[in-house]
Amino acid sequence: ELPPPMALTHVEAGVMTLTFNRVDKKNSITRAMYAALADGLERAAQDAAVRVALIQGDATVFSAGNDIGDFQNAPADPGPREQQPVWRFLRAIATFPKPIVAAVCGPAVGVGTTLLLHCDLVYAGDNAAFALPFVNLGLVPEAGSSLLLPQMLGYHRAAEALLLGEPFMAEAALEVGLVNRVLPPTECNAAAQQQARKLAAKPLASLIETKRLMKGGQQAAVLARMDEEGQLFGRMLHEPAAREAFAAFAERRKPDFSKI
Ligand code: COA
Repeated sequence: ELPPPMALTHVEAGVMTLTFNRVDKKNSITRAMYAALADGLERAAQDAAVRVALIQGDATVFSAGNDIGDFQNAPADPGPREQQPVWRFLRAIATFPKPIVAAVCGPAVGVGTTLLLHCDLVYAGDNAAFALPFVNLGLVPEAGSSLLLPQMLGYHRAAEALLLGEPFMAEAALEVGLVNRVLPPTECNAAAQQQARKLAAKPLASLIETKRLMKGGQQAAVLARMDEEGQLFGRMLHEPAAREAFAAFAERRKPDFSKI
């Protein structure tokens, strides 16, 4: 018997729903999951039957970010960027022409938070906990977040999130405009689905053009920043601070950066 897929894709009423399905590992995202999510988004962008994408976890967890084992095992020379599943996913979400809605409950760590910067509407459970621990892992921000987060939060709040890497909760995310509404966790996915279907009933060309106009012609700058971040990130994955952080996670201890 095949194991169940770790990312589910379902299309109904013009909405493609992408669901993280690896709850036992807090929906941390493996290479295979990035590939499945990229496939879904690439198909949704082309398919006239899909008008809106929705990304969700369950009522307990959105995503603990990149699988740390995959970080540890990342090859030193991963080959062309365009073929890497994570890059395909980030590119697909950053350039997705139609609206994207997200429903976020529980932990949203690393890419679990940065992907939200590319979503149009975000609904959060009151248990949502956002964190960008890139520095704590000896890494740098990704997904264009070093550009988009200061724009959204203002520089000093972005510095708190990205330099200190301290988690912040749903109410704080609502205050800074990272989420649209905070709901009881058990109602969050349904509320997001309802909003997605409202969007799907609207004229698609108007949605696409309005989203493009609101993004303000910034796409090239975002992609260029993602590229710059990606190069640094790929290099730093193999440096001593990140190796220590990954080992500490696996051994369930605090990392020791004192000699690095
Ligand atoms: N990669 C791989 N496995 C992960 C993971 C990740 N990013 N996040 C969680 N898991 C696994 C744990 O290893 C554990 O596996 P096990 O049951 O086989 O031991 C399981 O998921 C449950 O995680 P646990 O840490 O016990 O859950 P928690 O409720 O105490 O904490 C988090 C949840 C999300 C706060 C915590 O798991 C965490 O901080 N994860 C790492 C987040 C991170 O740094 N991601 C990278 C961002 S760039």
